[in-house]
Amino acid sequence: MDRIVITGGIPLHGEVEISGAKNAALPILASTILSGGECVITNLPRVVDVLTMGKLLGILGAKVQHEGNRAVIDAGTISSTQAPYDLVKTMRASVLVLGPLLARWGEATVSMPGGCAIGSRPVNLHLAGLAKMGAEVSMEHGYIRAKAKRLRGAQIYCDTPTVTGTENLMMAASLAEGTTVIENAAKEPEIVDLANFLVKRGARIVGAGTDVITIEGVRELHGSDHDVIPDRIETGTYLVAGAITRGAVTLNRCRPNHLDALLMKLREAGVELKVEQDRIHLNAASRLKGIDIRTLPYPGFPTDMQAQMVALMTAAEGTSVITETVFESRFMHVEELRRMGAEIKIEGTRAVVTGPTKLTGAPVMASDLRASAGLVLAGLAAEGTTEILRVYHLDRGYERMEEKLRGLGATIARQKEGAAQAGTR
Ligand code: UD1
Repeated sequence: MDRIVITGGIPLHGEVEISGAKNAALPILASTILSGGECVITNLPRVVDVLTMGKLLGILGAKVQHEGNRAVIDAGTISSTQAPYDLVKTMRASVLVLGPLLARWGEATVSMPGGCAIGSRPVNLHLAGLAKMGAEVSMEHGYIRAKAKRLRGAQIYCDTPTVTGTENLMMAASLAEGTTVIENAAKEPEIVDLANFLVKRGARIVGAGTDVITIEGVRELHGSDHDVIPDRIETGTYLVAGAITRGAVTLNRCRPNHLDALLMKLREAGVELKVEQDRIHLNAASRLKGIDIRTLPYPGFPTDMQAQMVALMTAAEGTSVITETVFESRFMHVEELRRMGAEIKIEGTRAVVTGPTKLTGAPVMASDLRASAGLVLAGLAAEGTTEILRVYHLDRGYERMEEKLRGLGATIARQKEGAAQAGTR
């Protein structure tokens, strides 16, 4: 398996271009299933999850031409409604094909996503919503099977705001008979991007980005073009890279207004930020202050930035308390950060970080996508060499990360399997 080797302690300087949002690209690609006709999607990030979604659409029988940041898809040729385990197990977001397959083709069989490193991650709310719309949903041999001649509009209340659940239901409701109201919907910008794409294709959706989304079902949708929004988590990760190395970085082609909570927290920690419409300049202070953070659904502080902020807080003065409220066991990076010298205690859902500590390079193991990003950031700040194993997690969600960081002056390289020396763990 590949590993990433970083020699830390170099302040990062320069500019980075932000890629398209993985979490917007995935539902947008899945939604092409809802109609025939050509959909041209641009600003797709070149990451493994996006390739996997393209592959899944191909397996279902859609015509997919995917090159670089652009895909041309026509799902009029779909011949299968089954999403196999082999693909779903590599990417939980494959469950996003459930709503569109069911709404357009009357049935869907999707492998049940398993647990993962950050918790049990159920899909009960996706299923309950579809059942409310008249689908017969059952579980057989590890597969979710859903059937409905035509879905009916319904009033749906989500017990907790779920991002992919809201997206699945919004896509399904677009072709249902009558009006669907999703209450306590998730409000993430990626949901708004999906709704904008669906509306361009003839869907009638109001309220995306608020906690009540109303969808008036239509008979059919058509193809359209769409440019995916910039990735707010990638943006946040490079901001922390600048801050943790005490550097000065400019992020281009991003959407600062999707990052309000993070920008406020970085300022509270003493980081200097200059924000323009689609750019952020960061100048790290020589001293960082410890702050408290609580992850919440959007517009609260994103759980996908929690690991990166835990890494940053190891460099801040005083005690920081980071509370994870979205996922149950999302502190796998903490043990690895401790091996690099961090002082962090886990108390239930809280990580209590005492800083500043001088991190020292060590071999560490990535457990999930954002935990890996946290370890890369720690490695950039640490004295000496950090080796990060299991980097396939990073490749799922960050486009050309080493190249972008090298562009900012980091000493970072990928060792291909075989070329790597025997690791210690
Ligand atoms: C999405 C993001 C992921 C991010 C997460 C939270 C994508 C592809 N992934 O994941 O990067 O970390 O939002 O911002 O967009 N829940 C239930 N029942 C359900 C569904 C969810 O109880 O049926 C719970 C989950 O266990 C979790 C919470 O709801 O505690 C939020 O999860 P959810 O928003 O669904 O996360 P994902 O959509 O899987």
